[in-house]
Amino acid sequence: MDKLIINGGKKLGGEISVHGAKNSVLPILASTLLIKGESVIKNVPSLTDVDASVRILEYLGAKVKREADTLTVDAREITKNSVPEDMMREMRSSIIFLGSLLSRTKEAVICYPGGCDIGVRPIDLHLSALKKLGAVITENGSCLHCKAQSFHGAKIILTFPSVGATENIIIASVLAKGRTTIINAAREPEISDLAAFLNSCGARIFGAGEGTVEIEGVESLSPCEHTVIPDRIETATYMCAAALNANELTVKNVRIRHLYPVLPVFSEMGCKLGFDDDSVKISSPKRLKRVKHIKTAPYPGFPTDCQAIVMAALLKSYGVSVISESIFEGRFKHISELNRFGADIAVNDRSAIINGVKSLYGANVYCTDLRGGAAMVIAALAAEGKSSIRDIYHIDRGYEKIEENLALIGADVKRVSDEKEENKDVGQEQR
Ligand code: UD1
Repeated sequence: MDKLIINGGKKLGGEISVHGAKNSVLPILASTLLIKGESVIKNVPSLTDVDASVRILEYLGAKVKREADTLTVDAREITKNSVPEDMMREMRSSIIFLGSLLSRTKEAVICYPGGCDIGVRPIDLHLSALKKLGAVITENGSCLHCKAQSFHGAKIILTFPSVGATENIIIASVLAKGRTTIINAAREPEISDLAAFLNSCGARIFGAGEGTVEIEGVESLSPCEHTVIPDRIETATYMCAAALNANELTVKNVRIRHLYPVLPVFSEMGCKLGFDDDSVKISSPKRLKRVKHIKTAPYPGFPTDCQAIVMAALLKSYGVSVISESIFEGRFKHISELNRFGADIAVNDRSAIINGVKSLYGANVYCTDLRGGAAMVIAALAAEGKSSIRDIYHIDRGYEKIEENLALIGADVKRVSDEKEENKDVGQEQR
């Protein structure tokens, strides 16, 4: 299995570009099942989660072509109405296929999804919403048998603004009869991007990105061309790496307004930020300041996806920072791995207390999940000596060629595929 070998302590600088948003492209790909034609999706990153979505689409009968960062999905013929368990378990977002497959085929069998191990990830909100739209769902062990001769509009009040549930409802209701209203909808930019794609195909979705979303069902959708928004979490990841390790880094191809929930944290750390239309420049002080208290929350709050990476940025800060995780109860697994670098992080219930240390040291660590893996990379870049990061398949779910991108801005990082090669390239392990 691949691992990353990082020789830490190198100053990063220059320019780096971010790819399209993983969390946007996955629901958009699922929703192409609604369109009996060729959807052209641009700015699609090359990620294992995207590959997993493509495998599901192809399994169901769609024809998918990739040319550079453009994916063409021809969903004129859909020949199956079930997704095998192994495909579903590859990623959490596979549950998004439920709404689209059911809308398209009227009957679907889908198993419980997989994804990052960051705590209990129920799908009750998805299921109760689809039932309100007219689906009859029976649970059978690890799979769900769903029928919906026709979806009809409904008023759906979400008890929590779930991103996935909001996406599933939007997808299931664009071709439903009548009007659907989602109250307490998720407001993440990826919801707006999904709605922008579907509206370009002829859907009538109003208010996406706000707490109330209205969808007027239409008869059919026509194919369109859509460019996926930039990945705000990848942007924040490079900014965190820069905060800890850079003189000055410019992150290009970003949407500044999508970064509003995280920008104040960088300012509090003492970083200077400069903005252009689609780029952000970050200059970091010699030693970052602590951040008093961050609490993850639904957008426009501080994103749970940035919790681990910001924690990594704070490891060498001056003072004590506190980060509380309110979205997923199991999202602190990276902490014990970060402490292997010599960090000083304690956990008190759902809060992490980060006592900044002067130095970090190279370590052998594991990625515990996608963003936890990115946190390992950020810490290793700032550690003295060599680090080895295993289970990087987590990182490949959400970052395209992370080692090549970081090398372009001055990091000493390489991917090795087995023990033999690591021994040849790196020599003795550090600790
Ligand atoms: C969540 C994040 C999203 C992030 C993604 C990947 C939030 C609000 N959502 O989206 O920004 O990109 O993870 O890390 O930050 N829940 C239920 N029942 C359900 C669905 C969800 O109780 O049917 C609960 C979850 O247990 C969790 C919370 O709602 O506590 C957030 O879930 P949701 O937004 O649905 O998760 P994702 O769509 O995976």
